[in-house]
Amino acid sequence: MNTTVVVLAAGLGTRMRSKRAKVLHRAGGLALVEHVVAAARAVAPAERIIAVTGHQAEEVEALLQPQGIRFVRQTEQKGTGHAVASACKALSQEEGLLMVLYGDTPLLSGSTLTRLRDAQAGSNAAATLITTTLPDPTGYGRVLFDEQGNVRAIVEQKACTKEQLSIRVINSGIYCFRAEVLWRHIDEIEPNKASGEYYLTDMAEILARHGHHVQPMHLDEANELLGINTRVDLADADRLLRQRKAEALMLSGVTIERPETVTIDVQVCAGMDTIIEPFARLLGSTEIGQDCRIGAGAILESTVLADRVTVAPYTLIADSRIEEGARIGPFARLRMDARVGPDARIGNFVELKKTRLGAGAKSQHLAYLGDAEIGAGSNIGAGTITCNFDGEKKHETKIGAGAFIGSNATLVAPIEIGPESYVGAGSVITDPVPAQALALGRGRQVIKPDWVSKRKKKS
Ligand code: UD1
Ligand code: CA
Repeated sequence: MNTTVVVLAAGLGTRMRSKRAKVLHRAGGLALVEHVVAAARAVAPAERIIAVTGHQAEEVEALLQPQGIRFVRQTEQKGTGHAVASACKALSQEEGLLMVLYGDTPLLSGSTLTRLRDAQAGSNAAATLITTTLPDPTGYGRVLFDEQGNVRAIVEQKACTKEQLSIRVINSGIYCFRAEVLWRHIDEIEPNKASGEYYLTDMAEILARHGHHVQPMHLDEANELLGINTRVDLADADRLLRQRKAEALMLSGVTIERPETVTIDVQVCAGMDTIIEPFARLLGSTEIGQDCRIGAGAILESTVLADRVTVAPYTLIADSRIEEGARIGPFARLRMDARVGPDARIGNFVELKKTRLGAGAKSQHLAYLGDAEIGAGSNIGAGTITCNFDGEKKHETKIGAGAFIGSNATLVAPIEIGPESYVGAGSVITDPVPAQALALGRGRQVIKPDWVSKRKKKS
């Protein structure tokens, strides 16, 4: 049986108090709706996933476009029932199963959706809905049952009587319908008297009224169903997603010291016997090899580390690549496609921007290396600066293999320094340096003997 998934992502999310649509807010490194679409992939191919967009539709669609899913616009946000009805018009009356997910439940897993589909497919119910019991059900729709244990109705928090408010079984907002039954009755949803919105939750009562069964699928683990309405919920989801991620990494052979302190985005991967120290942040599409060490407070964003790389504490690396056995930091900064070769060394207060450092090369202290190509085995002295910007354009610096750049050298780009050459400490280099030459570009030292006593005599 075909399964189609409709993800509702059109609302603004007033309770977020944000200019940005709620489903674009991030938890665990992905937008809320990206998590939901990823879970949906467990039960449907991309072309059978439809996101209903409205608020900031362009942004939401641009974000999800790479996944190859389809979109339907809900131009006016008149409630979850109205959103599903909008999708219905675009879908034509299809057979099979129709799952409805809300774009604000980022912890939902694909395996739960698979179970939901199987529960619905194996029953004669018109719909299956995931429920759970919460210690504090505030804000969620409450589920009412008939004597057989089928769902009789869902009552939204605002419409609850005093007694109904004490019901702790809630509607997760995750449903699997027999598509043709849903489409037959969707137009029977009436606007809510208080808000004027069309509530999808009214479908439970409508289906029951027509003699259909709506069965609950109860989950004991409620975390997965967390719906994000406020930034407090968002922080909860973020914490839970990162905890889940850290646990998965640890179970796959990564040591994480004080896992509650690290921030690891869901797409990050790390190899066996890598050690992650407290307060590290591993973000975006970062990939870490085996036997690496990520120091305390280090921040890696969309960066690739081969095996046996050490990143010492408080180092920032973004959009870069570090080869086997290299050691970076502490307090280093690498960005914009910096590439560090095997066994190279980058020390404290060294910045690399769009720079390649060859195998075994070293820049151990206090340097700015921008738009540079630095050969294997070279040694870049403390305080070396590549002057890559002339106020208008950026220029390149080339340093050959095995070159020795003395401390506090100023390399005015564009400039080429040949292999195995030497640059004297404190030099300002403006002309090319041939291979194996010594270049000195500094004022000659002058000594004035007894200068102090002579000055005293004068005064
Ligand atoms: C909804 C349910 C509630 C359930 C809870 C679970 C309804 C009426 N209530 O309440 O029973 O316990 O979720 O988390 O369905 N959306 C649209 N178009 C609209 C309105 C909303 O696409 O016109 C989208 C939103 O972007 C959001 C989702 O639907 O992703 C849910 O909307 P939200 O307002 O958060 O519903 P809740 O009040 O949480
Ligand atoms: Ca919600």
